[in-house]
Amino acid sequence: MQTKGFIFDLDGVIVDTAKYHFLAWKKLAQSMDIDFTEEQNEQLKGVSRVRSLEKILAWGDKSISDEAFQSLMTKKNEDYLAYIAEMTEKEILEDVPKILEYLTTSQQGIALGSASKNARAILEKVALLNTFQTIVDGNDVTKAKPDPEVFLKAASQLGIAPENCVVFEDSVAGIQAAKRANMIAIGIGDAAVLHEADYNFTDFTEISTDFISSIIASN
Ligand code: BG6
Ligand code: MG
Repeated sequence: MQTKGFIFDLDGVIVDTAKYHFLAWKKLAQSMDIDFTEEQNEQLKGVSRVRSLEKILAWGDKSISDEAFQSLMTKKNEDYLAYIAEMTEKEILEDVPKILEYLTTSQQGIALGSASKNARAILEKVALLNTFQTIVDGNDVTKAKPDPEVFLKAASQLGIAPENCVVFEDSVAGIQAAKRANMIAIGIGDAAVLHEADYNFTDFTEISTDFISSIIASN
């Protein structure tokens, strides 16, 4: 049996942290009299922290000094980390452990490929830090998704060719990054939004071990 590499995005795939990002960004936006809606929060999925703040400031038509920008980034992350501190294994999305266990038993490569600089802290809180053979996160890359850097680095660290890697992603930028890396892209979420993916599922409850097994067996 050929070994394939399965690369998981974190936020929105393994855990639903978008709600905590929303609360932290909302507080920041309110402090600057900027309107910030859940619809706008959707547009920040997969987007780096710096780029997210740039977008919020642009929506609010605000321009600030580099120093103020840095201090807002720090404040937002402190607020976000306060939510993360309360996370437990219960927040792992349904049936994600089923697929992770199946891949482990099948001796496949398992990696994390996330834009977040808090990925390791989150994995530790939900007791998944040791599940991944390698973790590539926002601290390890210079180019954000849709650039393929994060996934290519994960594949290289797994020692598996990109064309033998499969990516689970909930963001448009992440699906584009996977395709640019020449990997199989599995969209988790709204199929209409993630239409560039090779396969689409609403969540992991829809993914059978037979499906994973067929991907492992494919050329
Ligand atoms: C992505 C999230 O995974 O990570 C984005 O979808 C977030 O919403 C980005 O902005 C960066 O995360 P962090 O934890 O480094 O601020
Ligand atoms: Mg995501």
